[in-house]
Amino acid sequence: MSPLSQLFENNRKWAESMRARDPAYFERLAAGQSPEYLWIGCSDSRVPPCAMLGIEPGGMFVHRNIANVVAPGDSNVLAVITYAVNVLKVKHIIVCGHYQCGGVLAAMQTRSAEQMDSWLWHIKDVEFRHAEALKRIGDEQKRYDRLCELNVVEQVRHVCHASMVQEAWGRGQGLWVHGWMLRLKDGLVIDLGVSACRPEDVEAVDRRVIADDE
Ligand code: CO
Repeated sequence: MSPLSQLFENNRKWAESMRARDPAYFERLAAGQSPEYLWIGCSDSRVPPCAMLGIEPGGMFVHRNIANVVAPGDSNVLAVITYAVNVLKVKHIIVCGHYQCGGVLAAMQTRSAEQMDSWLWHIKDVEFRHAEALKRIGDEQKRYDRLCELNVVEQVRHVCHASMVQEAWGRGQGLWVHGWMLRLKDGLVIDLGVSACRPEDVEAVDRRVIADDE
């Protein structure tokens, strides 16, 4: 017996229950997708994006990596955004981080460049950018929470500045970019209030980030 036979058994039951609910369910799913949302979140196993938002299969295009990073030179995330914006024409891009993010903690705790995994540099960059403001937060837990939030805000900025998003806005395509946080201890999602649907909004977000730091 395969060590993962339980998973196949679960899968068979799931497919059966979906068919019982709606006999044409898989036929419709196989015909194509037109999700309204693109989710960019952390790979953390405690974050179940579709389940926690009540979104059924077909409803959300999903990209996940360690600490929900949108690195300007990352062809993987850029391909996902390009496809979501240009082909699927999603209406909302949600960058969602979470408190207790292991990736953010690892970046925070690594002091020397030699020990630093190259991926964590993206988060270290956020820490450097907001070093003064973070230094003023005496409580270590609060500083960690704040870096988790700032990481989302910075990744929202990266999404907004990406050429395909700028081009979509330029041709008048309705597209929102949002920054959210998941609080693992109660499962609730918090809107960080950095949503943007046009270039002027991004400038407002930039100004707010600077004001928050001061
Ligand atoms: Co995480």
